[in-house]
Amino acid sequence: MNATETWTVGKLLSWTAEFLKKHGASSPRLDAEVLLAHVRGCQRIDLYTAFSDEPNDDTKSAFRQMVRQRAEGKPVAYLVGHKEFYSMNFRVSLDVLIPRPETEHLVVEALDRAKLLRQSRVGQARLEIADVGTGSGCVAIAIAKHLDNCRLTAIDVSRPALEIAKENARTHDLSAEQIEFVESDLFHSVAGRFDIIVSNPPYVSASEYAHLDRSVREYEPVQALVAGDEGYEVLRELLLQASAHLADDGYLIFEFSPMLAKRLPEFVDDGWHAPLISKDLAGLARIVTLQKK
Ligand SMILES: C[S@@+](CC[C@H](N)C(=O)[O-])C[C@H]1O[C@@H](n2cnc3c(N)ncnc32)[C@H](O)[C@@H]1O
Repeated sequence: MNATETWTVGKLLSWTAEFLKKHGASSPRLDAEVLLAHVRGCQRIDLYTAFSDEPNDDTKSAFRQMVRQRAEGKPVAYLVGHKEFYSMNFRVSLDVLIPRPETEHLVVEALDRAKLLRQSRVGQARLEIADVGTGSGCVAIAIAKHLDNCRLTAIDVSRPALEIAKENARTHDLSAEQIEFVESDLFHSVAGRFDIIVSNPPYVSASEYAHLDRSVREYEPVQALVAGDEGYEVLRELLLQASAHLADDGYLIFEFSPMLAKRLPEFVDDGWHAPLISKDLAGLARIVTLQKK
């Protein structure tokens, strides 16, 4: 970007999209728009009616710095400090995983199963739901906002992640009565039984991790991604512990990697009904639903 030229919104966007493309960004135009909207303090849509406007020097300088960091691999969500998930806005920091679109299936599945439980449990007013490995709180908060009469227990081993999740719960107007946050290694510090347990646990193996995109490895928390040498370590323990924390007929719904699908039968004992595996939009096995017998 030459500082002496006239840089309108339109020109900044096309130059930046080209620049980020050369640096390997997968959605360069979108990235450019999100970053420019952020520094201008407007919505992305507002850029379209401002193509011929020339941002002031402070805005251009802030934009230039962000574009440089983006070109170095920093994810846009960490640069702007938020990410959309389930059509809701969530604050994110380097302490939490950036919510992924495929994880929205976990919310959909939990809401569907909650409806089924309501039909079969006439008379039970409130559903108790736990989210294990809540991170930014996106899954727990999306469920709490879309399901009447439920109570969420959002669990994470990371205290800094829980601070972000609490902030998100406040932003989305959830009370302490609707959502509780617990610092715990899986269920170690959690009492009680739940009707539904949801989880997007770490499920990447150490060898897969080495091949993940640089922007993931260099910025996202390892603890949120890597389970161990096999990838199954956290899930195996979750399956064992979840059974003791589920009400009869309760559901455990979790996200996992298509790479782990073949080994699932090894970890599902006869305390569960046959697993139901749902695919994501790319047609890959992604969400497992287990019902306790
Ligand atoms: C893949 S991230 C999911 C975050 C969020 N639920 C989402 O879907 O975007 C996994 C989360 O599990 C947490 N975690 C990892 N090991 C854990 C454990 N043993 N007990 C509780 N939480 C754990 C991590 O800190 C991280 O926040």
